[in-house]
Amino acid sequence: MNQTLERWSSRRAFILAVTGAAVGLGNIWRFPYITGENGGAAFLLLYIAFVVLLGLPVMMAEILIGRAGRRGPMQSLGHLARQAGSSGHWRWLGLFGAFTVFCILSFYSVVSGWSIDFMVNAFSGGFVGKTGPEIGAGFDAFLADPLRMTLNHTLFLVMTMVVVAAGVSKGLERLNNLLMPLLYLLLIVLAGHAATMAGFGPALKWLFTPDFSALTPLVFIHAMGHAFFTLAVGACALMAYGAYMPDHQSLPGAAVAVAVLDVAVALLAGIAIFSVVFTQGMDPAEGPGLVFVTLPVAFADLPGGAFWLGLFFLLLLLATWTSSINLAEPMVATLQGWGLKRRSAALVVGLCVWLVGLLCVLSFSTLSDVYLIGQMTFFGLVSTIPPEVFLPLGGLLIAIFAAWVMPEQEALRALDAGPNGFRLWRAVVRWVSIPLVVVVLVSGLI
Ligand code: PFF
Repeated sequence: MNQTLERWSSRRAFILAVTGAAVGLGNIWRFPYITGENGGAAFLLLYIAFVVLLGLPVMMAEILIGRAGRRGPMQSLGHLARQAGSSGHWRWLGLFGAFTVFCILSFYSVVSGWSIDFMVNAFSGGFVGKTGPEIGAGFDAFLADPLRMTLNHTLFLVMTMVVVAAGVSKGLERLNNLLMPLLYLLLIVLAGHAATMAGFGPALKWLFTPDFSALTPLVFIHAMGHAFFTLAVGACALMAYGAYMPDHQSLPGAAVAVAVLDVAVALLAGIAIFSVVFTQGMDPAEGPGLVFVTLPVAFADLPGGAFWLGLFFLLLLLATWTSSINLAEPMVATLQGWGLKRRSAALVVGLCVWLVGLLCVLSFSTLSDVYLIGQMTFFGLVSTIPPEVFLPLGGLLIAIFAAWVMPEQEALRALDAGPNGFRLWRAVVRWVSIPLVVVVLVSGLI
């Protein structure tokens, strides 16, 4: 397959696209509930350490492979491996990435669908005047309604695949240019609103005063998986975007900008959510329902609550939209590499994800007592193992490929940070990131 000629129109467009991929459910839904379940500040510190030591260097590795290969992930890996005189089997890493994003998108689309339902409900005043137990019961009734869940899941997936079918730079650039700045604005407004609440001080204290006794090997696994998940690293999804990266743009500069924006969004969302949680005396370890149950409760009796809540779910929907487009891209790029037209590839991917997503939908009703591994339902399984095991594993292989296998000159050129910058990046990947992933994975899984 020949190199793609498609490019993001500018450096800003590239940064917006990668930030759009990074910022999503991970920041606004997963970060608060997983931080709540893992004890707050100590987890937060660990997650930030993993972002710096693993997420960022591996993100650069992933994007530079795409940029040097300028093809779909499988084809880029195969091409560069052959160029280095190494095995063409490296291309299967691209397929593993496509499998990982497939699993992730199947639950991602379902949860993103929840925000459509909640947004409509919030704006139309459906939560106004309701008590906590009523809202909790409403959420449970929603989860137990496969038809309503399927409708939202379908709607969200159609929204995603329409943009993917239109082609990345055409469809996505327009969307990102509009959505990302709007998203930051909305978040800042919401965090500012949170600063006026009584729970703001306690929320800050809980988020920023660490208790290190809470850290166990499993917490390390959660934090590492979350660092990969939130930065969208480890599934070759950013590799697909790297293929369209313009020449003459330093990759480390772009990656750092994305990581800073990503962590900032998580922190702003965390501050907004936990201020509400502490104002209302709720439980931070509520679990995946945290955002969907506590916020409607909290906003129910605030002045203008229906508007603020609707705004919040709108923001969540916008953020998840750009991420799910990125999740779909490696699969579509892989099928395109096998000769399918972009539109047909988007249709096939959409249908397959929709079907597996149905199993996630049913995990809350018909299949709620079918446990696969341990006490996990199908939804529990796909929302835990791919982010926490597959992404770090994929990230590890990506790092090994970029820092040990790829021709040095290609990597140097694609990083675009000068010889010293290149040596620093490679030393960090070789001697910090790679060993760290191995140690955390091994110690957490045995
Ligand atoms: N980074 C996205 C989020 O935080 O919601 C999720 C994600 C996107 C994970 C793309 C992995 C990926 F390849």
